[in-house]
Amino acid sequence: MDIELTINGETTTVEAGSEQDLATVLRQHGHIDVKCGCDGGTCGASKVFVDGDVRMACGMAATEAEGSDVQTVASLGTQDDLHPVQQAFVDNFAVQCGFCIPGMIVQATALLDENPDPTEREVREALDDNVCRCTGYQKPVEAVLDAAGRMREEGVAADGGRPIGGEPADDTAMGKPADAGGCCGGGCDE
Ligand code: FES
Ligand code: FES
Repeated sequence: MDIELTINGETTTVEAGSEQDLATVLRQHGHIDVKCGCDGGTCGASKVFVDGDVRMACGMAATEAEGSDVQTVASLGTQDDLHPVQQAFVDNFAVQCGFCIPGMIVQATALLDENPDPTEREVREALDDNVCRCTGYQKPVEAVLDAAGRMREEGVAADGGRPIGGEPADDTAMGKPADAGGCCGGGCDE
């Protein structure tokens, strides 16, 4: 059946079987920044925003998303202009194989939206259902804390824009490298 939904700001019609999960349908339609690392809601790799809430896309029927606003990690920034959370993951060497990173960044962004100044414990608790087989979690946690600090300092809201009344962001102060790569969901096709 055809379902209409908005994916990363673009309203589109996608074909989805009645049994198909949202992660599979997103990937079939080119949104391969959504990762599938398990067989049902235990690794966190498939996290996306659905109408602003973090959902594991693998655990949601695609048909349930009909009419929804779906945002994958790729909606947060671009390869040339990463979201502060994405940039912090790159700068803190928090990305190894990269497979878990899209889900981790979606979850971290949601955390910083609710709590712009989390403790290390709060970051660890927020990421506790994002499984990473590579990093030992230390670097991702440091990256989220760093992102939180940068966003507070720069006046950047969790959606990458400025909070109401916030000062303009100064990208140069964020130490952005000219070519920020890595599997941080910044628009690469890996
Ligand atoms: S693939 Fe969705 S939680 Fe693992
Ligand atoms: S699973 Fe490889 S970086 Fe997390």
